[in-house]
Amino acid sequence: MAEAPSTNTTLRLSGKVAIVTGGASGIGEATARVFANEGTRVVVIADIQDELGNQVAASIGNQRCTYIHCDVTDEDQVKNLVQSTVNTYGQLDIMFSNAGIISSTAQTIMELDMSQLDRLFAVNVRGMSLCVKHAARAMVEGHVRGSIVCTGSVGGSRGGSRSTDYTMSKHAVLGLMRAASVQLAAHGIRVNSVSPNGLATPLTCKLLGMSNEEAQENYKNYARLEGVVLTPKHVADAVLFLVSNQAEFVTGLDLIVDGGFAKV
Ligand SMILES: NC(=O)c1ccc[n+]([C@@H]2O[C@H](COP(=O)([O-])OP(=O)(O)OC[C@H]3O[C@@H](n4cnc5c(N)ncnc54)[C@H](O)[C@@H]3O)[C@@H](O)[C@H]2O)c1
Repeated sequence: MAEAPSTNTTLRLSGKVAIVTGGASGIGEATARVFANEGTRVVVIADIQDELGNQVAASIGNQRCTYIHCDVTDEDQVKNLVQSTVNTYGQLDIMFSNAGIISSTAQTIMELDMSQLDRLFAVNVRGMSLCVKHAARAMVEGHVRGSIVCTGSVGGSRGGSRSTDYTMSKHAVLGLMRAASVQLAAHGIRVNSVSPNGLATPLTCKLLGMSNEEAQENYKNYARLEGVVLTPKHVADAVLFLVSNQAEFVTGLDLIVDGGFAKV
């Protein structure tokens, strides 16, 4: 049975209202669960996978987690996501702007497919900035010293042998985070990013044509750290730190969760 919303003030996110984009799957799903377990009043999962999103919300408990269809590339839908959250729950404390995609082909510079690049930029750059824009507006209007976290990637600070469009988009996420962190600091709003190494999620399993276990085995080669394999929960815990009071003086930070990146 679903648990009632928590009123335990020792929890790190007690009473907070949070949005998680891309929350139906992978890192977003794991983060929605961590947020709920840390006492958020509500987590609003925003995604385009309606069936999955509703299932995740129901499994967390519909009193403390809801699902809303929101294609982050569409400004009206993002605006509606933020406004409906504020109208229903009074304010927005946390925006985890996480929805992202990767192109299905290698996207090396000489074989760059521009329609795939446009689609990827619409989600990873336009969508990411729309979520930051509307979350920031709601926080400023509501006088909320909120916290915004964007999902970057290890690809956001280095080049690689493929996925040129993805690498470019994640560099842009860092630019967005840094600009927003400077501009919103006067309002007490913190903006940071989390940049994971490669890890097994539905996104990468599909791309690699591998099971979760096979993808985990594959990504072991990307990190120097032995004895542990990166999971969505590790990323979620880093996001939890960034949105919690433990990071009250942290803004403009790209928190890299890579176990010591190792070139493969
Ligand atoms: N998996 C990795 O190796 C890895 C590494 C570094 C960074 N990331 C980043 O982490 C984030 C989450 O990825 P994941 O690995 O959990 O993938 P995932 O596919 O499991 O989850 C991404 C979610 O985003 C949703 N989404 C896609 N387009 C959307 C749109 N237009 N509007 C709303 N939602 C949309 C998907 O439906 C999905 O539920 C992405 O930004 C990705 O770039 C992933």
